[in-house]
Amino acid sequence: MLQEISENKYCVRQMDGSKGMLLLPDKSIKLIYGSPPYPNAERDYGVWRASEYIKKMAPFLDAGYTKLRDDGFIVINVKANREKASAKFASKRSLIIEKLAIEMEETWGFHCVDIEIWIKENPVPTGLRVACQDAYEQNLWFSKSPKWNINLDAIRRPYESHSVQTYESYEYKPRSNGNTYVRKNKRISPNPLGALPKNVICGGVSSRIDGHPAMQPLYLPEKYIKATTSENDLVVDPWMGSGTTGYAALSLGRYFAGFDVVEEYVAQANIRLLSIAGGVGNGEGHKTK
Ligand SMILES: C[S@@+](CC[C@H](N)C(=O)[O-])C[C@H]1O[C@@H](n2cnc3c(N)ncnc32)[C@H](O)[C@@H]1O
Repeated sequence: MLQEISENKYCVRQMDGSKGMLLLPDKSIKLIYGSPPYPNAERDYGVWRASEYIKKMAPFLDAGYTKLRDDGFIVINVKANREKASAKFASKRSLIIEKLAIEMEETWGFHCVDIEIWIKENPVPTGLRVACQDAYEQNLWFSKSPKWNINLDAIRRPYESHSVQTYESYEYKPRSNGNTYVRKNKRISPNPLGALPKNVICGGVSSRIDGHPAMQPLYLPEKYIKATTSENDLVVDPWMGSGTTGYAALSLGRYFAGFDVVEEYVAQANIRLLSIAGGVGNGEGHKTK
């Protein structure tokens, strides 16, 4: 599989993603980025109930840990859907994502970089009246190593105009009680590469194309690929869907491997990736079961 990736820049397979990762050499992946079936979400690819969610995720985390490089990262984009309402219970928000994050540290030994929030500017209405409109998802960002390196410069953003004004007019002074980072009076000038990135991502939801019901916007995988990988590193999405992660990875000059159990999605991803990989490889060869 590694040879296929190095020749064609990518490789996709119709198979369970946890088993797919096992086909790669140990410590070969720099970033695992993906969006598994969401807990309780009823999709045509099945339902992963909150009650069995950790059990479903376990083989992916086992394989991921073994196949990640020591300086590798895993980012899981996910949303906790609500439990079904009953005569006695309103449709309550599942805490399984929080539990998954804790298990990733305590059971698998990953280290939490952050739990980032993706705010969806055009959320799909749920019609539920038991809480506010559901408008965010979580990105569980973990490092294999307890001491990690992230390329924050690669994901800096433009300064807000009021921040620039503050920099221009404000002089930082040490506090009289000594509890301060600032040792002497100083002005801070803006970083020419932009402001530090936020741990909140705001943007629109992708419109559905070509039949995949949960296609992501490109800006989500792009952020983590830029922050955690360099050119020619290997990025893997074990729940590849329409191939958004692969498209972002190849556009940024990284290698990609992706897996999905649904034949139609693998074919769709393959067409997308072939277009960005510069026409190398052939569709047949990338789509083996
Ligand atoms: C939330 S979608 C991912 C969408 C993707 N990020 C995109 O932009 O199109 C989850 C995907 O996981 C796939 N899936 C479900 N069980 C799987 C398994 N055991 N191994 C690999 N993929 C699986 C589904 O077919 C679905 O395409």
